[in-house]
Amino acid sequence: TEKPSVTWLGVPISELRRMPECGRPLHPLKDVPGHHTVMIRTDLLQKGRVPVPYPTKFRDSWDDIHVKMPCSSRNLFPVKDENKSRWELIEEALTKKFASPLDLKDAILRYNASNAKKWDFTALNLYCTKVNALDPDAAEHLFGSLLPDMVQLALRASELCTKPLPLLKGGMNHSITMSQEQVACLLANAFFCTFPRRNSRKTEYYNYPDINFFRLFEGSSLKKIEKLKTLMCYFTSVTEQRPNGLVTFTRKCLERPVDWKSSQTQLTRLHITCEGTIEDDGHGMLQVDFANQFVGGGVTSTGLVQEEIRFLINPELIVSRLFTEALDHNECLIITGTQQYSKYTGYAHTYQWSGSHQDITPRDDWQRRCTEIVAIDALQFRRFLDQFQPEKINRELNKAYCGFARPAEKSENLAAVATGNWGCGVFGGDTRLKALLQMLAAAEAGRDVAYFTFGDSQLMTDVHDMHAFLTQRKISVGKSLISLTCDVYDLLGQYYSSVCKSCLGRRPDVSLYSFIYRQVSSSLAPADSDI
Ligand code: AR6
Repeated sequence: TEKPSVTWLGVPISELRRMPECGRPLHPLKDVPGHHTVMIRTDLLQKGRVPVPYPTKFRDSWDDIHVKMPCSSRNLFPVKDENKSRWELIEEALTKKFASPLDLKDAILRYNASNAKKWDFTALNLYCTKVNALDPDAAEHLFGSLLPDMVQLALRASELCTKPLPLLKGGMNHSITMSQEQVACLLANAFFCTFPRRNSRKTEYYNYPDINFFRLFEGSSLKKIEKLKTLMCYFTSVTEQRPNGLVTFTRKCLERPVDWKSSQTQLTRLHITCEGTIEDDGHGMLQVDFANQFVGGGVTSTGLVQEEIRFLINPELIVSRLFTEALDHNECLIITGTQQYSKYTGYAHTYQWSGSHQDITPRDDWQRRCTEIVAIDALQFRRFLDQFQPEKINRELNKAYCGFARPAEKSENLAAVATGNWGCGVFGGDTRLKALLQMLAAAEAGRDVAYFTFGDSQLMTDVHDMHAFLTQRKISVGKSLISLTCDVYDLLGQYYSSVCKSCLGRRPDVSLYSFIYRQVSSSLAPADSDI
C-alpha cells in the first residue's frame, strides 16, 4: 500500500511538552501514612543502587485492607487434620529441580491441589516444546537457569516485600511506591501462582483482577505462546541483572465531577497523526492505557489488544492487579516508572514478541523511569446510539478528566496527553465522539494532546478539521465571553436530543461532526463560517 502523503496535522509533535523537561522538581520521597506507602528505605535511595526494602524484617499482616502474602504465617494448607504452612510447601515444591514443563506443573499444583483437575497447562507445554525445537540451548537455559532463578526471586518474598501492601480499594486516593526488584519478586510469585485466595473470583477478591498466572498456561492458542515469550523476556532481564529503579502506583478518585456546562476553558493544542503508537512516540507524555475496569484486562488470560500489549511489554504494570480493586466511574490508576522490556509486532491475533528492548528513558529523582501511564476504562457500548446519552457523555468526560487532571500542577509543567482511539476497539465506541471528548477533558486539565489514529488517515483529517474549526471560530468570532468547551458540550446535548432520540436504534443519518458544522455555521454571520 502507498504511504499517505500527509502523516500528521496540527502542531508539530516537537512543540508538545514531555517529561522530564517540563516537570517541576519532585519533593523528597517520603512515606505518608494514609496517602503514600513507600516500600523502601528512602534515606538510602541512590542512582544506580538497588533500593533497600523497608522495614528490615518481614512484618506480617493478614486482614482485609492488605494484600494477603504467600509468605504469611497465616497462609495455611490443610493436610489431613492439621494445617500446614503453605509457604513451606511452596518452598519445598519449587526448589525441586524441574526438567520438564510437567515438573513445573506438578510443583504448582502441589500447593494449588484443589485446582489440579481444573487447570490446564497446554500453552506452557507448547511454549517449552517450541523453545526446545528452536534451540536446545535455550531449553537448557529455561530449565537449568531461568526457572530456578525465578524460583529464587519468588522465594525472597519475605526478605524483599517486608511491609504489608495496602489494597487500593474503590474510593481511595493512595499511592504505593516500590522497587522494580520488589515488583519482580511479586510477579515471580504470580507466575508460580502462589498468591492465596486469588484463584477464584467467587471469594473475598471478587472485585479484583486475577493475579496468579494459571490462565496464561491454558489452551493451545498461539497468542499464549507469544505472551509467554514476552513475559519470559522480562523474567530473563530481571534475573540476570537486578533492576534498580522505583515504580509508583496511584489510585485517584475524582472528588467532584466537573461542571462541563459552565466550563470556560478553551481547547488546547493538538498534534494528530496516523502513524506511530502511544508507547513509541509518546515518550515523556501522559500515556493512556485503554483499560478495563479490572486493570490489565485479559493480560493473564486471553486478551491481546492495546492494554494487554502494554502490560506485556511493560510487565511491571501487571503487579497493579495484585492490589487494585475494580475502577469505579470516577477513578483511574496512574503508574509512573515502569520499564519496557520487550518489542512486538502485529496486534491482537497477529501479535508477536520481537525481541528484548533496551529502555533508555531517563529516571526522575525518585529513580523512576519518566514513563507515566494512566489506566482509564471507557464504557463498553453494544448499541451505537447509547454513547450519545448525556449521562454517558458525562461519565466519559469525567473519567478522562480524572486521568488527565493534576490540580496541584501548573499547565506549563504538564506533559501532553498521548492517546488515541480510547474505547473504540473492543469497547465499540465512536472514534469521532471519543476524540472530541478527550480533547475537552484534556483542555479542562490544561494539557495538549498527541493523538494517534493507528493508521486511520481519514480520522486524522476529520478530527484535525474539527479541532481547527472550533479553535478558529473562537478567534474569528472573538466572542471570548462564550466559552468553547461549554459550546461543544451544549452541541453534544443538542445532537442527542434532536438527532439521536428520533432515530429509533438506527444509525443517525447526520453524523456528529456534520451536525456541529451545521449548527455552528448557521448561528454565525456568513463571513465567520469559513472553515
Ligand atoms: N497506540 C495507539 N493506538 C492504539 C494502540 C497503540 N499502541 N493500540 C491500539 N490502538 P482497544 P478499547 C488503537 O480495543 O476499545 C482490552 O481488553 C486501535 O485503533 O484495546 O478501549 C481492555 O482490557 C484500537 O482499535 O481499546 C479492555 O477490556 C483502539 O486503539 C478493552 O480491551 C482501541 O483499542 C478496552 O477496549
